[in-house]
Amino acid sequence: MSRLDSFLRRLIAQRDGIDWAAAAVAGVPGDVVDIGLGYGRTWDHLRARLPGRRIWAIDRRVDCHPDCRPPEADLLLGEAGPMLDRLAATGARMALAHYDLGFGDEAADVAEAAALSPRVAAVMTPGGIVVSAQPLTGLSPLPGPAGIPPGRYLFYRA
Ligand SMILES: C[S@@+](CC[C@H](N)C(=O)[O-])C[C@H]1O[C@@H](n2cnc3c(N)ncnc32)[C@H](O)[C@@H]1O
Repeated sequence: MSRLDSFLRRLIAQRDGIDWAAAAVAGVPGDVVDIGLGYGRTWDHLRARLPGRRIWAIDRRVDCHPDCRPPEADLLLGEAGPMLDRLAATGARMALAHYDLGFGDEAADVAEAAALSPRVAAVMTPGGIVVSAQPLTGLSPLPGPAGIPPGRYLFYRA
């Protein structure tokens, strides 16, 4: 498979996974967090799929399209660990979290995801779903939507 095909399949899995999780948490109260705002693509998609929910965003910097800049009150700017702690301290709990940290150094990305997993779990409401680009620990794995090959994108129940 070419790198272009691989990239496209990952983005399709990301989009389809978010769509599936957004429908699955319809009856679960809570906010949403995009962990890794980046260019704001997934934040914008979450906003489109989950109108009426507060959508927090975490990143160490803002590098998104101006149309995709979250309101200041929902933007947690800094390292993911402390920002997850800050989110937990607000008392808000998440019905859906999307974890999208990582830059392609697989070992480092997997290690960071494992280290951050307890802090991700701490912001979730029971029954909430985490959609993740990286493997997380301490959450219950879900099969996710049909059509996404196992391992391409990851799904967990809090
Ligand atoms: C793959 S990009 C996110 C892409 C984004 N979801 C989108 O759709 O445009 C990863 C982002 O995570 C951020 N990041 C990576 N590690 C981080 C960390 N430890 N704390 C805070 N932000 C981090 C990077 O600055 C980068 O913007």
